[in-house]
Amino acid sequence: MTFDAHPRSSLIVALDFDSLATAVKFAKQVADLVGMFKIGSQLFTSAGPEAVRQVAQLGADIFLDLKFHDIPNTVAGAVLSSAAMPGVQLVNVHALGGTAMMRAAAQAVSAGVPMGSDRTRLLAVTVLTSMDQRAIREVGLGGPPKLRVLKLAKLAQKAGVDGVVASVQEAKAIRSACGREFLIVTPGVRPKDKGVGAKKDDQARTATPREAIRAGADFIVVGRPILTAADPRAAAQEIVDEIAATKG
Ligand code: C5P
Repeated sequence: MTFDAHPRSSLIVALDFDSLATAVKFAKQVADLVGMFKIGSQLFTSAGPEAVRQVAQLGADIFLDLKFHDIPNTVAGAVLSSAAMPGVQLVNVHALGGTAMMRAAAQAVSAGVPMGSDRTRLLAVTVLTSMDQRAIREVGLGGPPKLRVLKLAKLAQKAGVDGVVASVQEAKAIRSACGREFLIVTPGVRPKDKGVGAKKDDQARTATPREAIRAGADFIVVGRPILTAADPRAAAQEIVDEIAATKG
C-alpha cells in the first residue's frame, strides 16, 4: 500500500447505504476518483461479506470499518475473518477495548501472512469524532478530548496496532507522538462553504480536507458530503483537488 503516490489515494469514501445494489452503483460512479471505499456497520449488517466481494470486484481497496470491541479472543477471530476477505486493506477495533484486545487483534492481522508480503493494516478508533468534550466526560473519560485521544493512540501503538482513526484536531499531536509510519485516518471531514457538504450532521470534531492533510492525516474519510451531493463525482473531485493542492 502506498499512501501518497497519488492524491486520490488519500480519499476514502464511506459507502453508508442499506442496499448493496445502491452502494455498488454509487461506487462505480466515483471509483476512479477515490483511493479506497469504506464499508461500515450499516452496509455490512444489511448485505454481509457479499458487500465486500462486490466492491472488491470493482478493483477497489476496502476499509472494513466494523470497529470491533469485545473480549480479545472474539476480536481476534473477527479480525482474522475480516482480513481474509478480498480487497480488505484496513480493519479496525476500538482502542477502549484495551491493550490485551488490541494485541490479540494485531497478532490476528499478521497470522498466516507469508514473510515479506503485504498484509491488512489494523487501526484503532480512539474517540468517535461525533463526541464532543461533554459527551466524552459523560461516559466517564476525564480531561480534554485531545489528551484522551493521544493517550489511546500511544496505547494502540504499544500494542502493535498500525494506526488510528482520530479527528483532525488531534492528528498533529498524534503524528509527533507516534512518528511518520503510524497511520492516521480522519473522518469528520467537511469541505468549506459547500452547501450540503458544509453541514456537520452528527459530527462534532470536524475539519476541512486541507486542514486534515496539513495536520498529517494519511487518509481522510468522507461520507455524506459526497453521498448526498447533487453531483457526487464533482464533490469527490473537488476534495481530491483540495488534497492535491495541499500536498503541493
Ligand atoms: O458522512 P460522514 O462523512 O460523517 O461519514 C463519516 C464516516 O466515518 C461514517 O461512516 C462513520 O461511521 C465513520 N467514522 C466516524 N468517526 C470515527 C470512525 C468512523 O465518523 N471515529
